Amino acid sequence: MSVLITGGTGYIGSITCVKLLAAGENIVVVDNLCNSEYSVVDRIKTISGKEFPFYKVDVRDKAELKRIFIKHDIEACIHFAGLKAVSESIGVPLEYYDNNIGGTIKLLEVMKEAYVKKFVFSSSATVYGSNKPPFSEDMPIGMETTNPYGTTKLFIEKILRDLSISDPEWGIALLRYFNPLGADESGLLGDDPNGIPTNLMPYIQRVAVNKLPQLSIFGNDYPTKDGTCIRDYIHVSDLARGHLNAIERIRRTSGIDVWNLGTGIGYSVLDIVNTFIEVNNVDIPYVFAPRRDGDVAVSYCNSSKAERDLHFKTEKTPDDMCRDSFRFIKNLKSGDI
Ligand code: NAD
Ligand code: UFG
Repeated sequence: MSVLITGGTGYIGSITCVKLLAAGENIVVVDNLCNSEYSVVDRIKTISGKEFPFYKVDVRDKAELKRIFIKHDIEACIHFAGLKAVSESIGVPLEYYDNNIGGTIKLLEVMKEAYVKKFVFSSSATVYGSNKPPFSEDMPIGMETTNPYGTTKLFIEKILRDLSISDPEWGIALLRYFNPLGADESGLLGDDPNGIPTNLMPYIQRVAVNKLPQLSIFGNDYPTKDGTCIRDYIHVSDLARGHLNAIERIRRTSGIDVWNLGTGIGYSVLDIVNTFIEVNNVDIPYVFAPRRDGDVAVSYCNSSKAERDLHFKTEKTPDDMCRDSFRFIKNLKSGDI
């Protein structure tokens, strides 16, 4: 029996593959490589010392997906595949709705036909909209997303709830990620998006290796301790481990449930920049710039439900996140990976 990982060569997916393989799981990986590269497959194999099948397939391609479900004994799916750039989604909403929502529906249709009904979905803290932090899973979520990317996450959550009502045999875990940072401890897998990064750590990483001249910190007049936004940064290795716990849970249960994956602690943008400078002994020139549209001042979670139900507790600190991110980008820059 294998777990199908869509988007498995991406940032979070690749590190989740490593965790699953280390735990003795069999995996089948599907990715269309629109935001990742084939070399990641080899890097996962190097780290884990294990083999697995990889298919360069788009999840909207039902015929190819069906072939994979016929060829392999798939038991469950972790669905990472999707487009994730908030600002890009505002310019090309149809691409986001087609890829994220369309792709999820096609995948679910193929799973249903194959009688595979265990599903873990990568949702996001963005669905909490203007709720007041700490965000808990029982808070009402509505139509308050500020961009098409966020709306795709909200809609997919709703689609999965409707699917669960229609057929209670499905076992579905909605995982609402907070802000993943860091890289695999090996230094071989991390976050290096195509083009100019829009997320904080990929931008800091490129400034650290002199690929970009300076960081702009968006807003220093928020009602926070130092005026910069607060986020719940979670080490990507902890986040990846959370998927193992979720798979174990839905193997034993049916129905749909939702869990926050975060630390429950908020750090400011300046906290992260200063930590990166200190632990890596490197300069990160920065300037304060105007607020970015759509940013909420403060986002952090109540992490107790995941701790209670999934026995999930984060282990790593912002020091680890900054150290591991720097190791990864230095390896990339030196051409070692
Ligand atoms: P990523 O872009 O690194 O990985 C996504 C992978 O999916 C990429 O390898 C891409 O090539 C692939 N992909 C995209 N569309 C596809 C399609 N139609 N068919 C097959 N493959 C496709 O992103 P990530 O940071 O690893 O995020 C993984 C998931 O987690 C995404 O769904 C994202 O929305 C969600 N998420 C990420 C964050 C974050 O801050 N990174 C926060 C909340 C939620
Ligand atoms: N920031 C900067 N400068 C930059 C980039 C970011 O100051 O160059 C700031 C942002 O203004 C924000 C913080 O760093 O205050 C974090 O920004 P990110 O773009 O890294 O992350 P977001 O919190 O905006 O969004 C992330 C994911 C989304 C997800 C959301 C959920 O990118 O996919 O978390 O909270 F929906």
